[in-house]
Amino acid sequence: MIVLGLETSCDETACGIVESGGKILANHLYSQIPEHAVYGGVVPEIASRAHLEKIGIVVDTAMKEANISPEKIDLIAHTRGPGLMGPLLVGTGFAKGLARKWNKPITGVNHLEGHIAANHLTFPDLKPPFLCLTVSGGHTELCVAKPNFEYEILGRTRDDAAGEAFDKCGKLLGLGYPAGPLVSKTAAGGNRDFAPFPRGLRYNGQADFSFSGLKTAVLRYVQEKGDEFVQQNLKDIAASLEEAIVSILVEKSLLALKQSGQDTIAICGGVSANRYLRSEMDKMGQKNGFRTLFPDFSLCTDNGAMIAEAALLREENGFRVSEHKEVVPWLKLG
Ligand code: KG4
Ligand code: ZN
Repeated sequence: MIVLGLETSCDETACGIVESGGKILANHLYSQIPEHAVYGGVVPEIASRAHLEKIGIVVDTAMKEANISPEKIDLIAHTRGPGLMGPLLVGTGFAKGLARKWNKPITGVNHLEGHIAANHLTFPDLKPPFLCLTVSGGHTELCVAKPNFEYEILGRTRDDAAGEAFDKCGKLLGLGYPAGPLVSKTAAGGNRDFAPFPRGLRYNGQADFSFSGLKTAVLRYVQEKGDEFVQQNLKDIAASLEEAIVSILVEKSLLALKQSGQDTIAICGGVSANRYLRSEMDKMGQKNGFRTLFPDFSLCTDNGAMIAEAALLREENGFRVSEHKEVVPWLKLG
């Protein structure tokens, strides 16, 4: 079976083509970073227009990359939420048009299930149940992925997401957009104890998160110390910021592993590309006897292959959600 997946929930226009067994035939995307960088964040209207402009060429390029004709596609999948309303509508509308033109079935996919599916692509033998930490620009969530596509949510952020914390705090430090990868790059070799940034909800005994206090703390720190001091000590401040975010992600993951009785944690979402998170999570796993999994770097941030794989896994297990193909910007897992 071959599935074509479209992803347009935020600022990546993406198309992936995946065959049974997790074989990626194509994974092409257009990143809208240049469009949004001048504004320092994603502008929903600009994102919608850029998706409209690029989606046709992105699908064409993916089909060429896969070197297949439309007859070979068995199912068209698209992200139906969560995400920005306009961008979701563009992808969904395009998917519907494609399905009608090629006379194919169509199915809507939960973007968060797509991120989890990135781990299935990387580890084809991965079977539920396992613990999952989703860390992206819009979500920070710990859940148990159970058989039959059921999810038990153990905790999620009460305010900002981890990626948002990286982006907004990085912006306060004068780094570009998106700041997440730049904070990580700047932090390399820095002193992680330099600035005393808080770890939200550290001692509440629950697997939930809060990053809004960190944002306020970084703002106050920058205001108090002044731009010159910040720029002179940027490496150490970025390292302290990365430490504050990564350490709480690792601590809460350990708590959730113990509370849930799972022996494996699969981390996914854009922030799972963070190398310090990967090494700290691996250290925690080795020390406590847990298996820690990360997707291939190319599958961490939004892409079409993860959407195609999520649909493929459901389809092959008799769980197609074709009746749910309308857009739901606030869609949740579980
Ligand atoms: O999953 P994703 O592409 O989009 C959403 O679904 O939100 O995640 C994007 C987020 C951004 O906040 C970006 O700054 C963050 O992932 N990110 C990183 C790294 N690479 C991407 N954050 C920290 N370190 C990285 N290396
Ligand atoms: Zn995402």
